[in-house]
Amino acid sequence: MDDHATGGRTPTIRTIAMPGDTNPAGDIFGGWLMSQMDLAAGSVAALTARGRSATIAVEGMKFHRPVKVGDEVSLFTDLVRVGRTSIQIHVEAWRRPRESDDCEKVTEAVFTFVAIDSNGAARRIHPAAEQV
Ligand SMILES: CC(C)(COP(=O)(O)OP(=O)(O)OC[C@H]1O[C@@H](n2cnc3c(N)ncnc32)[C@H](O)[C@@H]1OP(=O)(O)O)[C@@H](O)C(=O)NCCC(=O)NCCS
Repeated sequence: MDDHATGGRTPTIRTIAMPGDTNPAGDIFGGWLMSQMDLAAGSVAALTARGRSATIAVEGMKFHRPVKVGDEVSLFTDLVRVGRTSIQIHVEAWRRPRESDDCEKVTEAVFTFVAIDSNGAARRIHPAAEQV
């Protein structure tokens, strides 16, 4: 992979788009890509919240380019803000065609997670993690 294109960042998740991830027209389903983004953001949220968390909002979702079967898809995350109970994470997805070094950004969005307790109610994140 051409790491210059992605700023030399380490992806939170890297996966391959498979034929089973396509829509009826044979292109990669946008919902599959969103679930990969949610998984990547959820991983950061769980670590930051030191426990269970749930997606409460997705903002600014944009599909820049299509993803094709066989593409290597890398999910990059940046912690944007830690609130009292919520965590905002910017997620970008990049594709690399299976037999190429050329990478391009395919989607981005800001995911907000809320730390929840065993009853599913919002719980306060450790004060040390807050950047209010
Ligand atoms: C997560 C949940 C328990 C929170 O409920 P709640 O206590 O009523 O939520 P609140 O309105 O008090 O908001 C909690 C936090 O989320 C933030 N928030 C609420 N709505 C938001 C939105 N639309 N965008 C960004 N942040 C939002 C609030 O600002 C607050 O953050 P803070 O505590 O850091 O200041 C509840 O919304 C829920 O169960 N949602 C479903 C989650 C889920 O199932 N997700 C998977 C989808 S299939």
